Amino acid sequence: MSPAMPAKPDAIVNALTDWFARHARDLPWRRTLDPYAIWVSEIMLQQTQVKTVIPYWERWMRELPDAGALAKAPPERVLKLWEGLGYYTRARNLQKAAQAVVERHGGRFPDTFDEVLELPGIGRYTAGAICSIAFNQPTPILDGNVIRVLARLFAIEDNPRERAVNDRLWNLAEALVQTAQKTGWPETHACSVLNQALMELGALVCTPKNPACDACPVSRLCAARRRGIQESLPNLDQRAETTARHFATFLIQRDGRWLAQQRPAGVVNAHLWEFPNVESAHIPNDPCALAKAQWNITLAAADPMGTIKHSITRYRITQHVFRAQWPARSRLDPAGRWLTPGELDSLAFTSAHRKIARKFLR
Ligand code: ADE
Repeated sequence: MSPAMPAKPDAIVNALTDWFARHARDLPWRRTLDPYAIWVSEIMLQQTQVKTVIPYWERWMRELPDAGALAKAPPERVLKLWEGLGYYTRARNLQKAAQAVVERHGGRFPDTFDEVLELPGIGRYTAGAICSIAFNQPTPILDGNVIRVLARLFAIEDNPRERAVNDRLWNLAEALVQTAQKTGWPETHACSVLNQALMELGALVCTPKNPACDACPVSRLCAARRRGIQESLPNLDQRAETTARHFATFLIQRDGRWLAQQRPAGVVNAHLWEFPNVESAHIPNDPCALAKAQWNITLAAADPMGTIKHSITRYRITQHVFRAQWPARSRLDPAGRWLTPGELDSLAFTSAHRKIARKFLR
């Protein structure tokens, strides 16, 4: 028995797999063993909730059904299919990885952990998820949900962000999926089921606040529950403080078109479209002065329309939206394009600016 082997691994695995068979949600990517389809779902699910992902995944699979189709799709189309999911590096890496699948593997998705792990945008968690779910291999997974389940089940009080604690959690995840492989028949997809049961338990039962211990299949085996400390685990102290930031965003009109700019390469949300905006040290109270300082344009007036809020990493951002007419005699065009309403709909905008268009331009 390895030092990481948890107490009663068979009992834990049996309880989890039985529970999953009875309580798992019927999600569209759970109806397939196609590694490409499972990979796309895992990437989408990395930072986005299941109910948001479902329609995106279904549309993506209709339009780009395999790695070959994704490899040769125009990047604008890929970005458009991703619009609204955020963290666009994920979409660009999906396409890069699809191109690698075509070049290195003749278009067939690889079926060894090491080859999967070498693809762009695929880390240890995602490679483990693909190999266990699509190929029933005993590859462990550890994401936020699984960390919470394991930290509670084994009453791990140290911070999982620390290297040694993280290693210990990976070892526990591995011991469990190896136990599943030993106990299950191949046709029961035991590794796949065990890993998805860990994810599902974290999503539905072993939640961060008010875990539903009464509905939990492993509550009798849970060391944290026994000690009544489940709500305080995992111990993720030292979260970065959040910082408030303010932007003035301008909806500038000329002849029925709106001014928009494309974000440059190499920045967050690269290549996506947005309305001209400028950061302000405080709630912007003189938007015309901001526009003058940023683009040297003299707006006659900028009418406050309202605000939208969103978060990126530790920043809590408020966009203060102003509407203005392009000054008739101004010759200075800030870099950008005058978009028709049709173009406004069809180009890929950042999530925040898509929200602005929906809220203030209808
Ligand atoms: N979160 C990460 N992977 C998932 C999956 N396959 N199903 C549901 N939620 C998930």
